[in-house]
Amino acid sequence: MDAKTESIWSGAKPNAPTPRLPRSVSCDVCVVGAGIAGLTSAYLLAQAGKSVVVVDAKPEIASGESEYTTAHLAWYLDDHFTHLASVRGDDVAKVAAASHRAAIDLVAEIARSESIDCDFQRVDGYLFAGTEGAEILDDEAKTMARLGLPHTRCTVSFAGPGSVDALRFPDHGQFHPVKYMAGLARAIRARGGEIYTRTVVEKIRGGEPCEVTTTHGDTITAQSVVIATNNPFEAGTTLHSKVAAYITYVIAAEIPKNSVPPALYWDTEDPYHYVRFAPAGPADAFQYLIVGGEDHKTGQAEDQPERWDRLKAWAKAHYPGMGPVHQHWSGQVFETPDGLGLIGPTPWNGPHVYIITGDSGMGMTHGTLGAKLVADLALGRVNEWASVYSPSRLMPGALRTLLGENLNMASQYTDWITGGDIASADGIPKGHGAIVRTGLTKLAVYNDEHGQRTTLSAICPHMGAIVRWNPGESTWDCPCHGSRFSATGTCLHGPSTADLKPVD
Ligand SMILES: Cc1cc2nc3c(=O)[nH]c(=O)nc-3n(C[C@H](O)[C@H](O)[C@H](O)COP(=O)(O)OP(=O)(O)OC[C@H]3O[C@@H](n4cnc5c(N)ncnc54)[C@H](O)[C@@H]3O)c2cc1C
Ligand code: FES
Repeated sequence: MDAKTESIWSGAKPNAPTPRLPRSVSCDVCVVGAGIAGLTSAYLLAQAGKSVVVVDAKPEIASGESEYTTAHLAWYLDDHFTHLASVRGDDVAKVAAASHRAAIDLVAEIARSESIDCDFQRVDGYLFAGTEGAEILDDEAKTMARLGLPHTRCTVSFAGPGSVDALRFPDHGQFHPVKYMAGLARAIRARGGEIYTRTVVEKIRGGEPCEVTTTHGDTITAQSVVIATNNPFEAGTTLHSKVAAYITYVIAAEIPKNSVPPALYWDTEDPYHYVRFAPAGPADAFQYLIVGGEDHKTGQAEDQPERWDRLKAWAKAHYPGMGPVHQHWSGQVFETPDGLGLIGPTPWNGPHVYIITGDSGMGMTHGTLGAKLVADLALGRVNEWASVYSPSRLMPGALRTLLGENLNMASQYTDWITGGDIASADGIPKGHGAIVRTGLTKLAVYNDEHGQRTTLSAICPHMGAIVRWNPGESTWDCPCHGSRFSATGTCLHGPSTADLKPVD
């Protein structure tokens, strides 16, 4: 697929440009990050009468992973209840289901009360047998019966004769995430909240008051700070050891309107495929069929373009009525060893600083329930989910996954002693990048469409791993903790807050 990657939601971003933080300011709560987690936190706090200031590094709100999501609103956990119950116990699994359900209810309530026209719709969710992992259905049915969670055994039909085994879960949801976030921003401003973009935060000090320092020197003094940057920055190794960065791929194709009932689907494969439908324009005779999957660890694959092709083939095989692919894109998710978000007081910043991270591929619900959780803590209220999501929690039951992910991160540093992708930068085709070894170090060299070369240090400014070229998105991706940079070195995704260094 050769068209530029862009999500189908991007066009709904607010037209009016958001200003950069103009000077140092004070407020009750500073929220860092204007994705679903940050905007929902700011909305709930502004609704409770707090003065809020939201800052974001990007030029516009809703420009992080919340722009690239597929926006399934699910309480069924994609890492499965059997896994969570086995590593954290039945009580935690019940709280996880209840809190994700509450998140869907909260989205519905905010959309209703703020009159946000975001195509919110209640739909059923289906876990269906893929070419592998069909036994998961039996395990899940048993676990969910034990936990008292609503589910029905059923079959679903795709192309071809017959049908496949499935489990149906009621009361899921779907929406247009960018329309929803634009509505949240309107509601925050209507309550006196301030939102600034192109404002990169590099340091947060907790205390009374807390201080947030931006890269251009201005500060925000606040009673509390919410870090809603998707992936934590300045976290040292404490939290990075608990979140593993993965890239996941999406295509959005035409399918005739009303040819399939709206629902969310996931198969049992690993990585799994995920499917939903979304309205196109009112005059269009089609709706979107949105199919995702093909996940891999960030910076640890070289066949990005083929992954979209495989998704397209999978989608066509299951939905032969599918028309042309309109858009395709990819983005990052951050997996935790037990599959639940890391939400609550940060273990490293000092008092009154809270974080929402570790979305585990369910950041629409984790971001929303996380916002409720941190807003309660910042307001001095008790929140019954706090211990379940605490960022400081130990996960002895998930130790194997934790160790596996950390060994993988550590092994990425062997790139320091290997050769480059190519012997000389002269061999890099137009429109591509490659890593070139020079003496003891490595360079990230991009040769643009006109043959103009950009030479950067390949050393990730975060913790010194060597970045890798992503030919699907034309980015430099760090295989260690998921920092991503444009072809010319601009930081697109943290934890790094700095760009790749240019080299003469
Ligand atoms: C392809 C794909 C499909 C997905 N599908 C689903 C799904 O169906 N359902 C679901 O629940 N989840 C899904 N997810 C996950 C979900 O989209 C994300 O977890 C969620 O959007 C994250 O929201 P957020 O607010 O935490 O982060 P973001 O939306 O990434 O917002 C974080 C913001 O913080 C800003 N920021 C970062 N660092 C700094 C800094 N130092 N200073 C200032 N600002 C900073 C960024 O610019 C960004 O705007 C999917 C993700 C992807 C990529
Ligand atoms: S993201 Fe941590 S070393 Fe690159």
